[in-house]
Amino acid sequence: MAKILMTRRIPKKGIAILSAEHELDIAGDKSLGYEELFEIIDQYDGVLSMLSDKFDEPMIKRAKRLKIISNYAVGYDNIDLKAAEANNIIVTNTPDVLTEATAELAFSLMLAAARRLIEGDKFVKSGKFEGWEPLLMLGKEVSGANLGIIGFGRIGQAVAKRAKGFSMKIFYSQRKRNEKAEVEYGAKFLPIDDLLAISDFVSINAPLNAESHHLLNKERLSRIKNGAIIINTGRGAIIDEKELANALISGKVAGAGLDVYEYEPKITKELLEMDNVVLLPHLGSSTVKTRDRMAEMAATAIVDCFKSKMPLHIVK
Ligand code: GLV
Ligand code: GLV
Repeated sequence: MAKILMTRRIPKKGIAILSAEHELDIAGDKSLGYEELFEIIDQYDGVLSMLSDKFDEPMIKRAKRLKIISNYAVGYDNIDLKAAEANNIIVTNTPDVLTEATAELAFSLMLAAARRLIEGDKFVKSGKFEGWEPLLMLGKEVSGANLGIIGFGRIGQAVAKRAKGFSMKIFYSQRKRNEKAEVEYGAKFLPIDDLLAISDFVSINAPLNAESHHLLNKERLSRIKNGAIIINTGRGAIIDEKELANALISGKVAGAGLDVYEYEPKITKELLEMDNVVLLPHLGSSTVKTRDRMAEMAATAIVDCFKSKMPLHIVK
């Protein structure tokens, strides 16, 4: 029996899988701070971690007994993979099971920002609706518009699948072309600067790494098509958040739908005050079905690891 730490309570299925085989400590219903986690991590053989838990080199070095970090997320930018490998720690994630839920949320944000859903809802609930008006809250039409997808992996492609139903023209940008997906979704590959210049909507679906950090910086934001709407369900730091706020203030960027933030859970103050910005509390994978499947997958990875069976989704 191994000693396992779950840093936050996850759906029951995952708890059942782990506690049937191992001694399981559940840290609780609030996030452990870095210091708190650092304090106790050396007692554990395995950890089921959240994307908000930072496993940097000092944390990993202290975790002398640790064999596996099973991250309850598809993204793993919270973990120093080099340090993990150097210390013989396996890192796993939960891909695939959250693809549809995340793409669905990206699309929800796009529609919400374009058609001013949150603004309209507030308007009605605050008693301001006095009847149909020809010029009330005109939005940006999604149907037939140009969509630029940055990061054309599973989630980016699932966004494209939905965009096809809205007759959008789909462009994508990433390191390598994916000709199979181009045919499947009628998507066109473009270098990022060209993509930004023609997209009415830009959806960020890339992982965060050294290459994608501040991919949308001040210069790129200045070259984006006038009046574009930016959707981010990837990671906050892919956009320079301060510069995004400036581009929204100047009107260069017409709106945004954000589920992730550069300094999560802190949010650039100006964004909190704008009606044309829709903000969500990192809900990409947050459906009952998906979180159950993530729980099962993340827990099973740990069980497999201690049975000397290769977990399904090891990240390198
Ligand atoms: C969510 O952001 C994830 O990476 O799973
Ligand atoms: C990226 O991590 C993806 O699953 O698309």
